[in-house]
Parts: sequence; structure tokens; C-alpha cells
Amino acid sequence: MPEHGGFNKEKAQRFLQQLMKDVSASFHSAMTYIGDRLGIFKAMAQTGPVTVAELAQRTGLQERYLREWLGSMVAAQYLDYDPTTERYRLPPEHVAPLAEENSPVFLASMFAGLMPHLIVAPKVAEAFRTGGGVAQSEYPQELFAAMERMTAPMYEHYLIQQWLPALPRVQARLNEGGAALDVGCGSGRAAIKIAQAFPNARVFGFDRHAGSIERARANARAAGLGENRIRFDVADCNQLPHSTFDFITTFEVVHDAVDPLALLTSIRNSLRPGGTYMMAEVNASSRVEENISPMGRMLYSASTLYCMTTSLAEGGAGLGAAMGEAKARELAESAGFRHFRRLPIDHPFAALYELKG
Ligand SMILES: C[S@@+](CC[C@H](N)C(=O)[O-])C[C@H]1O[C@@H](n2cnc3c(N)ncnc32)[C@H](O)[C@@H]1O
Repeated sequence: MPEHGGFNKEKAQRFLQQLMKDVSASFHSAMTYIGDRLGIFKAMAQTGPVTVAELAQRTGLQERYLREWLGSMVAAQYLDYDPTTERYRLPPEHVAPLAEENSPVFLASMFAGLMPHLIVAPKVAEAFRTGGGVAQSEYPQELFAAMERMTAPMYEHYLIQQWLPALPRVQARLNEGGAALDVGCGSGRAAIKIAQAFPNARVFGFDRHAGSIERARANARAAGLGENRIRFDVADCNQLPHSTFDFITTFEVVHDAVDPLALLTSIRNSLRPGGTYMMAEVNASSRVEENISPMGRMLYSASTLYCMTTSLAEGGAGLGAAMGEAKARELAESAGFRHFRRLPIDHPFAALYELKG
């Protein structure tokens, strides 16, 4: 028995049970990834209760594989199974999280995001030894498509409906016209929402990742928005043009940035007089003891597997996803912003800050 504390048998038992659950969930996450990737959940949302043979027919997938996969889903209680009819069913309560791409509670895309993180885990482990990190270019392209799917429901359901109404002056400016820029726009889904909501405004999206800008341009075309309404460019936003934009946003960008202070300083300089910067960051505390939750667990893990590590790969600050409000405020002050306010928005994933020069 260690000298510095007693051994609590119940605690040991509880921990073993938790670990067993975690191991089981970890293996099963690959099954959910496959279900999402192959459209099996979406097919089952359409079919109602099905036999394996019917599902194979419907999806064009191998029956033997489907049977095994269905077994994993029944064991996990994601699906119901009726042994008398040998039919499997996606319960109606599980349809939105697993099969409804645009639902605000759609979570299956998180499993698409998980796999590219796991693929680089051996390289990340090496960085624990050697320092440095893993460069953004070393991640499978699949990650960027998944990132788009993971964040899109947030922009679809909250950005225009709840977040921008917290900034009535910004709304008024964009209704008249004005110029908005989304820094680190990724696949452009937030910028496209802004362009659609404010037809008089000119909207821009910049990202230093060329693959994401290609996706953003394709998304704008699909939304029927021409270059007169929205423009996406590959750019490092640490050197934005001065006094150009009325409204600048970052969505989950600052904690990933190589040089977050240079980024915020560049954003401040790029605002026109009276302009507003809205920083959307992960809803986490800067203190680890306040992040003891499933969300905290996911955040530190994703941060180690991507956010912190891609920044460190370039000799960056590596702030990490759980930088929290305290760090955001400190950065804002250092960059010369005179106004910093957390907006009164309650969202499980996002914390929003209003900054003015
Ligand atoms: C986690 S992703 C978020 C993407 C997008 N805002 C979204 O919510 O889906 C962070 C993005 O910030 C971009 N980024 C980070 N630092 C940047 C910089 N200095 N200039 C331009 N883009 C940057 C990255 O390339 C990446 O696409």
C-alpha cells in the first residue's frame, strides 16, 4: 500500500468498471464511424425495422459485415432488435443524433472527425518525446471535411438566430451594407450564413489552408452566392489589410493559431473605427479542475491530437482548446482591445466574446 494514501477498494472497482466501459466505447466508435461513412444510419432512418438481408439489399453492402455491425449496435443499445421477427430498428429518438445531418443534435459526424485524429496518434506520441508537433498538412484530408460537418449545425441553427442578435449594432451595420470577414473560415459555412442573412453586406473568408478554401468556394457556389456577395481567399490573417472591415469573426481559430497575439493584433488593426470582432471559442474553463466532464475529456484529447499540436509544429504558442475566457481576455488586452465582453449566450460547445478596438 502506498504511504501517501489509503487504498479504497470501491474506488478501484468503480474505476475498473469505467475503464471497461471506455475500452468498449472506444472499439465501438469505429462501428459508428463506419455506420456514418457508409450511410447505414441514414438508410435505417428510412426503412424502419429491417432484417439483415433487407438492409443489405437496400444499402448494397455485404450481408455478413452488416450482421456483425448490427450486433455491435444492438449491444451498444444504439439499435433495437426484435428476436421474434429478426428485425433491427433505429429508434426514433436516435434518428436526429445519428442520421439527420442538419439537426442541431447531429453527432455522428464527430466520429468522422475522430478517425483522422487517431491516425496521427503515433506521430503525436513521438512529439511527446521530441517536442515540436504534427503539421496540419500531415493530417488526412478527411479531417477537413469532417470539421465542416462537425461545426456546420452550430452555424445553421445559432449564428443568425441567436448569436448575431446579441450584437444589434453589428446587425444594423451589415443590414445597411458594410464588410464582414471570417478569419480562419475553414469550409466557409459560417461566412456563407452571414452572406445569406445580410444581402447588402460584402462578406470575405480567409484561411491559410488551401484545401479548406477550395471547399469554401464550392460551398458558396452551391449556395448560389457569387463573388459580388462572398469571396474566399487563401491568406495568413496575421497580416490583414488595415481599417477594412466592420465586423470580423473567428470561430474556433484563436486556440489553434501559431501566433495568437499577432493574429488578434492584426484583427484589431483591420477593423474600421467602431468595428466589432466576435471571437467564438470553445466553451471551457482555463482551469483543469473546472473541466472535469465528458466535454473536458474530449477537449483536452482533441487538443493534444490536433489543436495544440499543429500550432507547436510551427514553433507556435500551442494554447490548446481549453484556453478558456481568462486566456481570451489576456490576449485581447495584450493586442490592445479596449473592450472585452462575454456575450450572454448559453451554448454547450461555444463561448462568444465581443471585442472592440
Ligand atoms: C479548427 S479550424 C476552424 C475552421 C472554421 N472556422 C470552422 O469553424 O469550421 C481553425 C482554422 O483556422 C485556420 N487558421 C489558423 N490560423 C490562421 C491564420 N493565421 N490565418 C488564417 N487561417 C488560420 C486553420 O487553417 C483552420 O482552418
